[in-house]
Amino acid sequence: MATLASTTGAQHTAILGIGTYRPSRVIPNAEVVEAIDSSDEWIQQRSGIRQRRWAAEDETVQSMAVGAARQAMERAGVDAKQIDCVIVATVTHMFQTPAVATAIAHEIGTDQAAAFDISAACAGFCHGVAPAADLVRAGSAGRGLVIGVERLSDLTDVGDRGTAFIFADGAGAVVVGPSDTPGIGPVVWGSDGEQFDLIRQREDWRDVVASDNPQMPHLVMQGNAVFRWASFAMAKIGQQALDRAGVSVDDLDVFVPHQANMRITDAMARSMKLPEHVRIARDIADQGNTSAASIPLALDRMIEEGEAKSGDIALLIAFGAGLAYAAQVVVVP
Ligand SMILES: CC(C)(COP(=O)(O)OP(=O)(O)OC[C@H]1O[C@@H](n2cnc3c(N)ncnc32)[C@H](O)[C@@H]1OP(=O)(O)O)[C@@H](O)C(=O)NCCC(=O)NCCS
Repeated sequence: MATLASTTGAQHTAILGIGTYRPSRVIPNAEVVEAIDSSDEWIQQRSGIRQRRWAAEDETVQSMAVGAARQAMERAGVDAKQIDCVIVATVTHMFQTPAVATAIAHEIGTDQAAAFDISAACAGFCHGVAPAADLVRAGSAGRGLVIGVERLSDLTDVGDRGTAFIFADGAGAVVVGPSDTPGIGPVVWGSDGEQFDLIRQREDWRDVVASDNPQMPHLVMQGNAVFRWASFAMAKIGQQALDRAGVSVDDLDVFVPHQANMRITDAMARSMKLPEHVRIARDIADQGNTSAASIPLALDRMIEEGEAKSGDIALLIAFGAGLAYAAQVVVVP
């Protein structure tokens, strides 16, 4: 019997470049509270959010993703033709099929690339980085582009006081490629489908169509239960990612958790006993919770503001609807 050939790729991988797209509309809490019984003070105290960005009409999932992708490729010094794989993490591309990744790949000029979407909600970005790194190490791709992009304003009920102030829009992208030294640590990931109902769309599209008064199936969330889960269970996952990468909290320079709620970030940092020197991402204050886009947006802001520099060791940890989670240690590009 014939034996099939198999491939191997680069021994090590790294993030070669990062790019972002922040939509143009800045929405302060004062505007959000016009539709809900709430206050700027309450929102800032309970979530850390001062303002968020919502996309304008022409800022689509595709256009924001393309903006972030082009910047990531430019900073990585990589041409679109060198990208073999485009992975897009999103839950707000409104077509069930085809994947928006194919349209993005075409627009950025990498038609030859494999292109597909993944649905892991707020955990999506880290769910994309892990297979991208593995594809490069396995020789299935020379370089991969991972994009987290959301237009959550489309799925947000502006009259729901449990969610209206949280969700936001934006895109972040990274180029993953070969490296002389390890730049992306082993992933620690998993899910807890018993809690499937905690964050989800109100109803599925068939129910919308069958309704006498069709409404967008907005996101609904049991905020308190999500808060407790994220604050306590996720610190352990972060520690496991450090252990698997062979580093300790003392080696860490930067902590970039999914930007869900500033109090969740603080609770995780306390539980993990992060030393004082570790800089913590706080992009949520001005950007809101952008789900799959939040980690690259937060990391990029830290780089731009000089809080993270090339070569720093960063812990990324993403968690959300599903409930799904993924974490890995990376070297800042
Ligand atoms: C949504 C969230 C900020 C709510 O904060 P909370 O402290 O859990 O608030 P609770 O739901 O326990 O409500 C506390 C009180 O505030 C009130 N409240 C709820 N929403 C409010 C709002 N938008 N404005 C003012 N008051 C509000 C409640 O009615 C309640 O009042 P009561 O004590 O008189 O009954 C918080 O649960 C959270 O951030 N959860 C995680 C969300 C998240 O990260 N989601 C994405 C995961 S990827």
